[in-house]
Amino acid sequence: MTRPAGSSKGSPAPEGERTYLLGGNWKANGTLASVRALIAEFNAAGPIPANAEVVIGAPFIHIPECLSTLRSDIEIAAQNCSLTGMGAYTGETCASQLRDMGVTWVILGHSERREGFGMAGEDSELVAKKTKLAIDEGLKVMFCIGEKKEERENGTTMDVCASQMKPLADILSKEDWAKVSIAYEPVWAIGTGLTATPEMAQDTHSSIRQWVSDNVGADVAAAVRIQYGGSMNGANAAGLLAMADIDGGLIGGSSLKMDFFTCINSVP
Ligand code: 13P
Repeated sequence: MTRPAGSSKGSPAPEGERTYLLGGNWKANGTLASVRALIAEFNAAGPIPANAEVVIGAPFIHIPECLSTLRSDIEIAAQNCSLTGMGAYTGETCASQLRDMGVTWVILGHSERREGFGMAGEDSELVAKKTKLAIDEGLKVMFCIGEKKEERENGTTMDVCASQMKPLADILSKEDWAKVSIAYEPVWAIGTGLTATPEMAQDTHSSIRQWVSDNVGADVAAAVRIQYGGSMNGANAAGLLAMADIDGGLIGGSSLKMDFFTCINSVP
């Protein structure tokens, strides 16, 4: 089966400006039937702004369906990959296998995986190692960071974000950073309907960019995209995306419906 082509509107980001990155994170949602219905809606949704790149993070089992039927101007991400290459690692899926299938992105370090939902969670060292491995295998990475409610309240938001980024800065080469987008997802805003205000999000995004400038390089900081995630939807996307350091979104609940296209069409 060939993927339908999709179509674009408007102009690409001018030279030197960042292309918006809109990621949908379907998490562990959907049946084959619901995924097929959503893909049909997305395929019929009209043009995507030329200054936006769109990626869907599908559950592993739904990736083949996306790869064969979702419009080809939406790239496909996995929501995790293993810390190993191919081999005797029961239950794992490795970056080279994803690449082999035609997957181009992977979401790593999501707060739900860091937390572990009852199993051992992933720490920042592990997430950094997975990111390096994924990049070495040819994938691009949405690297998730973000503080919890009590950390926001006690004023340690940037300490938390810095501690999550430090192992990554230690392990990546400057060239590797071209394959990374930072997804800032305040944990208190995920799935709660509590979105950071555009000003609050901009403030943190700007601090994250400054941290990258100080710890990796000004050129990397100017180029790296920083997505906002946490209850982004069609009603609040335009306000968030209008901010200078907000280069896109990582969208959970709203990416499971046509509201995702309202977010996509909200890029300035
Ligand atoms: P919600 O958009 O459902 O809050 O989820 C955000 C998220 O976790 C994306 O990775």
